[in-house]
Amino acid sequence: MRRKIVAGNWKMNLNLHEGLDLARSVDRYMQKSKKTDVDVIMCTPYIHLSKASELLASPAVSIGAQDCSDKSSGAYTGEISAAMISSTGATYVIIGHSERRSYHKEDNELLNKKVKAALDARLKVIFCCGEVLEEREKNLHRDVVSKQLREGLAGISADDLDNIVIAYEPVWAIGTGVTASKDQAQEMHAYIRSVLAEKYGKESAENTAILYGGSCKPSNSVELFSMNDVDGGLIGGASLKEDDFCTIIDTFPG
Ligand code: PGA
Repeated sequence: MRRKIVAGNWKMNLNLHEGLDLARSVDRYMQKSKKTDVDVIMCTPYIHLSKASELLASPAVSIGAQDCSDKSSGAYTGEISAAMISSTGATYVIIGHSERRSYHKEDNELLNKKVKAALDARLKVIFCCGEVLEEREKNLHRDVVSKQLREGLAGISADDLDNIVIAYEPVWAIGTGVTASKDQAQEMHAYIRSVLAEKYGKESAENTAILYGGSCKPSNSVELFSMNDVDGGLIGGASLKEDDFCTIIDTFPG
């Protein structure tokens, strides 16, 4: 059965000390809570990865990066390879976040290379997909997301899918305070699962966690996570506040 996951995406926030304080607090919270049914991931800036990974004591908590290069090494100034991320002790990487797609012009073909590079380095991937407002208004959201999945995961096997988590993040909901309704989220999550089932079979699709992202916070996580196909969240702004993030984690009781 698929796992419940609450992942934080810190984006470009928190200096080294602030970040380690937050990671330590969340880890301690998870040690105390003794929850076994939810996995917590903190996707930090690169500078935190190593030290944050070292301080973890709760088996429920993992550290991830927010991007990786599609290349394995070489003269690519400023880039970080998946193997470098893996060497820090981090175990996850977000690929295809809408901010990478829009500000860095990352297309599905490049993202597919990044997914392969990450899996080769034995990282687990949080693969993001989601439509912009205009696409939803034109009723194109399913087509856009299906293309992102088909092209982004091209050549990825069903075995590899075991190491991939999907995050559905409607771009119009990211950082805007506007959240998808629980029905909108459920509809898209079920659709994403059907796209995965078509490609990988029903069992693999059923075992894949699909997270919702976009203005998810303590006041809406209960209703969003109550939906059948919503297996947790990818949390931006609210993952920077210990209380909010831990309250969202507590949406899952066990
Ligand atoms: P938000 O960001 O929760 O601040 O909307 C989510 C994300 O971009 O992953």
